[in-house]
Amino acid sequence: MDIWHVRGGRKLSGSIRVQGSKNASLPIIAASIVSPMECVLLNTPKLRDVDAALKILRHLGCKAEMSGNQLYIDSRPLSLSHIPPDLMEEMRSSVIFMGALLARCGEARLSPPGGCQLGERPIDLHLKSLRELGADIEEEGGEIYCKKSELKGCTINLPFPSVGATENILLAACAAKGKTKLIGAAREPEIVALAEFLRAAGAEISGDGTEIIDIEGFKPKKYVLNRIIPDRIAAATLCCACAACGGDIQLKGAEFSSVLYFLNQSGCDIISGTHSLRVACPGKLRAVKGISTAPYPGFPTDAQPVLMAALLKAAGESTIEENIFRNRFRHVPELRRLGADIDIEGKTAFIKGVNELHGTALNATDLRGGAAMIIAALSAEGESVIMDEGHVRRGYERFDEALRTLGGEVYLET
Ligand code: UD1
Repeated sequence: MDIWHVRGGRKLSGSIRVQGSKNASLPIIAASIVSPMECVLLNTPKLRDVDAALKILRHLGCKAEMSGNQLYIDSRPLSLSHIPPDLMEEMRSSVIFMGALLARCGEARLSPPGGCQLGERPIDLHLKSLRELGADIEEEGGEIYCKKSELKGCTINLPFPSVGATENILLAACAAKGKTKLIGAAREPEIVALAEFLRAAGAEISGDGTEIIDIEGFKPKKYVLNRIIPDRIAAATLCCACAACGGDIQLKGAEFSSVLYFLNQSGCDIISGTHSLRVACPGKLRAVKGISTAPYPGFPTDAQPVLMAALLKAAGESTIEENIFRNRFRHVPELRRLGADIDIEGKTAFIKGVNELHGTALNATDLRGGAAMIIAALSAEGESVIMDEGHVRRGYERFDEALRTLGGEVYLET
């Protein structure tokens, strides 16, 4: 059990480099097995989810060594195509190994993935798309068994731009004969990062970052060097912490995002430089109405809990609509324990700004919800203790140290 001790009341200030992206590094780690290769990934964040991905690689027979934030992978010795349930359950991204194993071995046996409990998280779009590429998929006794006789390029229409399904299609399509056209693809920067990696590994991919992606062929390379992009959600989290507490921080590696647009509306000054950002927050914010989560380039669902934490004391009533995950307000009852005034009606949270929050004991419900509680606790009077089964460390690298660097009083007891 991780225990976060937070003492609120201090403004944040100073400068910090943003960690490497969790959601970019996980699919790239899976992509390292698409063909036999050695690869070096710079700026890989040290996270529990990355550890879980490396355990899967090692189980499959690959070498994976982390040195600082540099990850070396040798996928040449891969010898298995089966991932046991205990490794699958550690995180949602394990499902991306399905497309990668199918490309490399022609088969994959795995169980449904784990990850944050944000409501139903089906993988029907992944399975439908892989079937369209020619995979035979059977679901039996809680296991999914995929086998290809031959993967053939085709046109795939995604009815919703699922990030994970787009990634699985990119990976499996590398081994398909002929051209694959993906219509309705997710456009997240993490998809572009995966496509960059695959191009460096020999894939011919174009259109990533738009809703139509073409995958036309694959001439495998033996060695790939890649740098993991900065984590836009970790950057948003630190900006929201500054907004909640007041202060003035600089984030190296961060880019402007829709989260900052709303922080700006709430009264924060945002100064955007080349690969860096300064966020100056007045202490008392204004409420913001009409925040609504949507696929990229819309406002990211992953930043919803942390922006909510920033707005708890804003003057007036803020509204946030959650459109991606049905169960993504699990942090709300915990935030209320600090004194927050939040009503939920259907998909919308109504946040009436209060003058004060008071530290108390909380339970982290999931990764981003846990981060939201730490932010809210930093803006509360007195001390809070947040009990956490390890959710926050799944996605944030040394979050306590990062916040202490900025002047926050946060201590992690593991
Ligand atoms: C990824 C991110 C996660 C983020 C989410 C949405 C990673 C490791 N995780 O998750 O942090 O919150 O994108 O931006 O990159 N859906 C289906 N059927 C499917 C697949 C998805 O109905 O086959 C639904 C999901 O239940 C959910 C929505 O589509 O309601 C979004 O899911 P998706 O974009 O696939 O998210 P993930 O890839 O799981």
